[in-house]
Amino acid sequence: MRVPLIVGNWKMHTTIGEARQLVNEMRLGLDKIEGVEKVICPPFVSLAVVKELIKGSSIKLGAQNLYFAEKGAYTGEVSPLMLADLCEFVIIGHSERRQYFGETDSIVNNKLRAAFKVGLKTILCVGERLEENEAGKTKEVVTGQLKSSLAGLDYPQDLVLAYEPIWAIGTGRAATGSKANETVSLIRQQFAESYGKENAREVRILYGGSVTTDNIVEFVEQSEIDGALVGGASLRTDQFVGIVKQTSEIK
Ligand code: 13P
Repeated sequence: MRVPLIVGNWKMHTTIGEARQLVNEMRLGLDKIEGVEKVICPPFVSLAVVKELIKGSSIKLGAQNLYFAEKGAYTGEVSPLMLADLCEFVIIGHSERRQYFGETDSIVNNKLRAAFKVGLKTILCVGERLEENEAGKTKEVVTGQLKSSLAGLDYPQDLVLAYEPIWAIGTGRAATGSKANETVSLIRQQFAESYGKENAREVRILYGGSVTTDNIVEFVEQSEIDGALVGGASLRTDQFVGIVKQTSEIK
């Protein structure tokens, strides 16, 4: 039984004050909804404040990235150990990290390894570019990313996967539910090849890319999709609470 999961990725939005306000706005609405795991991922600088604000609430906390070394002379980076004190989840390999910060599958692999070592639950993102999608290479790209990102890692118990087609991120042009389900199913098959059918049945796989209250049902009603990784709409209380609520009604 896979518990549905909705994750809000706030990306590089909100000052500490704005983060505080947003969490306070969302908390009541989210706490009323049962049966869905809810995670918010504010920027690093707001994690400590948000952690205090969600004490006693059903909301869980995640970070958006980490560096794989435990500590050392890596100016500006944040280590897994620092995060383990602060939050439960971490997003790894988001396409924006790959695109703007040169993250390769091998870096993603190191980051996953480091996150597991300190017991962080990871949300590993994969997804194809528009031209890859149009060239019919979606399967090859996403299963390739998955394989290399997980290369050499023992079965990662606390892993969540997220399928985020790059062309659907922040564009208002979401995938269709059935297409997303097809790709998520391929991702599950690939996971089964690495870790066995049983584990593949257990792993949660999210869809991400222009998810709103208008289309969430189309995704969560699919058999293979266990929830969503939400960007823009997670910065609006009505949207985020609405997405979680609709998910609880379907799953
Ligand atoms: P949007 O929901 O803004 O398209 O972003 C999706 C995303 O990248 C979540 O990680």
